[in-house]
Amino acid sequence: MAIASNGYQSGFGNEFATEALSGTLPVGRNSPQRVAHGLYAEQLSGTAFTAPRAENRRSWLYRIRPAAVHGSFERYLGAPGMQPPASIGRFHNDFGDGPVSPDQMRWNPLPTPERPTDFIDGLFTMAGNGSPAAQHGIGIHLYAANRDMDGRYFYDADGELLIVPQQGRLHIATELGVLEVEPQEIAVVPRGIRFAVSLPDGEARGYVCENFGALLKLPDLGPIGSNGLANPRDFLTPNAAYEDKQGNFELIAKFQGHLWRASIGHSPLDVVGWHGNYAPYKYDLRRFNTIGSISFDHPDPSIFLVLHSPSDTPGTSNLDFVIFPPRWLVAQDTFRPPWFHRNIASEFMGLIHGAYDAKAEGFVPGGASLHNSMTGHGPDAETFDKASSADLSKPDVIADTMAFMFETRAVIRPTRQAVEAAHRQRDYQACWAGLEKHFTPPG
Ligand SMILES: [Fe+2]
Repeated sequence: MAIASNGYQSGFGNEFATEALSGTLPVGRNSPQRVAHGLYAEQLSGTAFTAPRAENRRSWLYRIRPAAVHGSFERYLGAPGMQPPASIGRFHNDFGDGPVSPDQMRWNPLPTPERPTDFIDGLFTMAGNGSPAAQHGIGIHLYAANRDMDGRYFYDADGELLIVPQQGRLHIATELGVLEVEPQEIAVVPRGIRFAVSLPDGEARGYVCENFGALLKLPDLGPIGSNGLANPRDFLTPNAAYEDKQGNFELIAKFQGHLWRASIGHSPLDVVGWHGNYAPYKYDLRRFNTIGSISFDHPDPSIFLVLHSPSDTPGTSNLDFVIFPPRWLVAQDTFRPPWFHRNIASEFMGLIHGAYDAKAEGFVPGGASLHNSMTGHGPDAETFDKASSADLSKPDVIADTMAFMFETRAVIRPTRQAVEAAHRQRDYQACWAGLEKHFTPPG
């Protein structure tokens, strides 16, 4: 029986304070000699102790047992799609340093599992770059699951998890409270926080980005001003909720690219109250305030940035999470769909709902595409023909859609299992084959 949601607090990275039993949180100190109700105090830090105040993240947890109480870890091999690539252990890049094809790639959705499979065992690593050891880069996974994590709890020491449901709701019970998310919402579970996923609809699939770098944050808005894009108050962090449960349970950890398991005799979701600014949160992508051109051309897709993980180079992200939500297109003398382009950044796209405006067909909800650094891509031939002769005296509305992109400064290396997968579309390049020569020099 999953823990029931206890509601949410609003805001991004606030100093939250919440208790499921009144009188749990100590007043005026963090670590009193004796915590109320016989609880233990435990600090969970998500940044260096000495990180600047504006970046500093930590929370104080008041719990039934400390996180240290569990058996020894051994390797866990029960998640076949989550096994690290062959070259695991290389410090600079856990996703290999062999040849990586510059081809455009596209996939159909991950097939539904044939056997009972929970969220962890249903993860399928698609691609990634960098390394948890070096604390930069990302891992990109899909998930397809059809059973609850019953008596199993998971944490990821390698990165924070940005979870993008595509089909089926997720009930994510975390140490700090419950996130209930549905497709077109996202959940972020910071590094180290233990959680269990159950599936209210019986089945679920979606995308996960594992961010090995700096914590995700809202972008600065520059001349946009003090409002717009993703507004801070639309981010929801759970109120404390706990379970006091004994049994033969399992704690799964992702640590330095590998999965580990330990037995645990109680539920680790036993935090009765907590305060701080290191906590899971959710966000409804339909609340994104989309901003675009009302004259001509269209701005770079950075205008659709929801959250980003900065790198050590100003303005150049370890990870940008970008969405393509419903919007009006009104630009004049303008090719209205996304233009043809090659970027230094590398792009992994997914489609949560509806259709994407640069592709007439083939990019389906639950599918994915990869366009790496300097690989040419853009609208397919059918979209180009339609948009080149569209009547611009009328606005277009793109409704009923939600696509997204995990964009990174480093090349995204697909895993072998992704390249060889039966659900990869090996004829993807054909979508540009119909772009014929129209050049007619004068005279
Ligand atoms: Fe692109």
